[in-house]
Amino acid sequence: MAAFSFIPDRLLLPFTGAEDMQNPVIVDHGEGPYLHTTNGRKFYDGTSSLWVANLGHRHPDITEVLHAQLDSIAHTSLHGQAHGRAIELAERLPRFAGLDGYYSFFCNSGSEAVDASLKLTLDYWHRVGEDKRKRIITLQNSYHGETIGAMSVNGGDEYEDFRQMRPYRTELVASEAVTEREKHLRRTSHPSLAEATGKGTDDIAAIIVESLHGAGGIVPVPPEELAAIQQICDQTGCLLIVDEVATGFHRAGSRFHYQDLGLKPDMLLLGKGISAGYIPFASVLIHPKVGDMYARSHGCDPLMHGHTFSGNPLACAAALKNIDVLSTQQMQTQIRTLQSAFETSLRAASGEDPRVHVRQRGLMAGIEVFSPEMGEHAPAIAAETCQKLKQSNILAGSIGNTIILVPPYVSTSQEIQYCVEATLDSLISVLRHHAR
Ligand SMILES: Cc1ncc(COP(=O)(O)O)c(C=O)c1O
Repeated sequence: MAAFSFIPDRLLLPFTGAEDMQNPVIVDHGEGPYLHTTNGRKFYDGTSSLWVANLGHRHPDITEVLHAQLDSIAHTSLHGQAHGRAIELAERLPRFAGLDGYYSFFCNSGSEAVDASLKLTLDYWHRVGEDKRKRIITLQNSYHGETIGAMSVNGGDEYEDFRQMRPYRTELVASEAVTEREKHLRRTSHPSLAEATGKGTDDIAAIIVESLHGAGGIVPVPPEELAAIQQICDQTGCLLIVDEVATGFHRAGSRFHYQDLGLKPDMLLLGKGISAGYIPFASVLIHPKVGDMYARSHGCDPLMHGHTFSGNPLACAAALKNIDVLSTQQMQTQIRTLQSAFETSLRAASGEDPRVHVRQRGLMAGIEVFSPEMGEHAPAIAAETCQKLKQSNILAGSIGNTIILVPPYVSTSQEIQYCVEATLDSLISVLRHHAR
């Protein structure tokens, strides 16, 4: 075998800052909540490898089912045919998500699920003869992915250029779900939901909602705002697309976050933890009023959308086993115990410094560092904290001026506590250093 260096000269690392580009952690293998590197270090995977490895690495049940699936078939298509794993998952996944009777569309990433939901929305209105409905309302600070379609409904300022490309007719509305920093900067250029709907509603195709802004800094959308959105959907008949790519499968507390919030999704978008992170996978769960349009039994025109790997059998097998494991009493208890350990340690450690703002839901936390005096230094402080955390053998991520902790469900309470305390200690020490 040709020798290669462990420096990724030719490998493009997404969203990777200079420090990590020059000195990246190179993972060799994983075990439970830990990642082992090629140079013999062992890190606690404090982001569950981008919020997916909920059951940790090398979970024996998932590994076993994948080996068995490989012995049967690794890939076959859903174009014009089907296979048992996909059929079973399309029965069980909606039921698990509290949406029994919904249809399932399978794809490979959260961004693809978002794109599929937008395309299905426009197709739905076209098929029912309401072509006028083309406006998609989305919330400030929300995040939906990186394909052009998904970027066009992202609510961050940095996506303004992509929204202007207008692959979809997006209207961005103001939201209360913003970080402390954004509250301070408070840009008022976006219309309120009331203003956006006040000028007429018969052109609204859908409202897309991320009920807890994950990549926006773990910021919950206030219940009143969500209630207003649901009311507009009820009154105008526009579709409600709920993006639970990040929050689903107990990540934000309940099995699915929408269940706590009185939302009635017409489409529920799932990704990340859907296959416990073992195979790239995502899904759109679709209300029968939309799904029936494509169903064989209704003799309709086919669904003109799909991907080569839609419903890959390995991904479906992992997703089915993930549902089994998450449904066990043992895992239910484990998740509840960890959520309360996480909350307790975050509460104990926060409040020490007025520049530190902690937001937590389930096993997701955003630790925002901000004060008006800090100016534009805050993101650098958050990034430096994550670098420093590596000295405590913890991998965490930062998004802007917020440090993100998303621990695996297979952690112990002690590991969670250590992770939180080390993060807050590192942050305080970086803040002290910057004050000098
Ligand atoms: C809420 C939400 N939607 C969509 C996406 C896009 O998912 P993917 O990165 O798998 O394309 C993400 C990714 O972070 C997300 O958090």
